[in-house]
Amino acid sequence: MGCEAGSHLRSLPQGYRAVVIGASGGIGRALCDRLRSDEQLGELVEVARGSDGFDLLSEVNIADRAGRISNGPIHLLICATGVLTTHGQSPEKSLRQIDPEIMLSQFRVNAIGPALVAKHFLPQLDRRSRTAAVFLSARVGSITDNKKGGWISYRASKAALNQIVRTASIELARTHPNAVVTAMHPGTVRTPLSAPYSKGHPTVSPEEAATSILRALDRQTETGKFIAYDGSPIEW
Ligand SMILES: NC(=O)c1ccc[n+]([C@@H]2O[C@H](COP(=O)([O-])OP(=O)(O)OC[C@H]3O[C@@H](n4cnc5c(N)ncnc54)[C@H](OP(=O)(O)O)[C@@H]3O)[C@@H](O)[C@H]2O)c1
Repeated sequence: MGCEAGSHLRSLPQGYRAVVIGASGGIGRALCDRLRSDEQLGELVEVARGSDGFDLLSEVNIADRAGRISNGPIHLLICATGVLTTHGQSPEKSLRQIDPEIMLSQFRVNAIGPALVAKHFLPQLDRRSRTAAVFLSARVGSITDNKKGGWISYRASKAALNQIVRTASIELARTHPNAVVTAMHPGTVRTPLSAPYSKGHPTVSPEEAATSILRALDRQTETGKFIAYDGSPIEW
């Protein structure tokens, strides 16, 4: 899908400032491309491990990165980081395969890292205008939707992320009443993260996912929700 000109995020102010964390990832990169083609965009801050050493495992590093962009307010924050395969280990198929180190690693990247991103970046959202913050989660993090079992570390780390996003949204609403904070399932997207596991499942390209994600964000009016890329609600 091409990057046709025009505005993708009409609900944000003209000249809005966007921050994408995980700009090197399959979905993160496509989101950056899409945002760059938005004529309404003022500034895009791309945060990635490869280009600037940003590491979700280090709070000092996260705080430092947030501090370096504190010269102006943020209108759009996207946290597009995450892991599914850790230390070469595929997600568990059964309880027998639980490894505490792998589980901890999933929690550190998928839940604690984004919590620290929330801690250091959310306060920088503009208080005066509508703003949006999205944390890429996964439908498999839904407890209600879990019919198949397996993938316990990834599922649990995403369920924890969802709780973190919900909690952050409640606190942020007190100081930033126009901020919409969302946990979002991006769909099954053709990226390195999903490649080993997506066989037989319908997939979309990162570009299609990015278009859907921005459209859903633009339309989302309620804060603290868990939604899919098409804006449909997902049960916690
Ligand atoms: N693809 C799918 O089908 C799918 C489905 C459901 C949910 N999701 C979620 O969507 C999000 C993005 O996934 P993706 O498919 O785009 O994955 P991806 O291509 O593997 O990208 C993952 C991103 O996370 C970054 N990252 C991982 N560990 C990090 C760390 N310790 N510090 C800093 N950055 C770190 C990676 O940085 P490097 O480039 O430096 O490794 C990369 O930018 C994830 O939260 C994933 O769980 C994806």
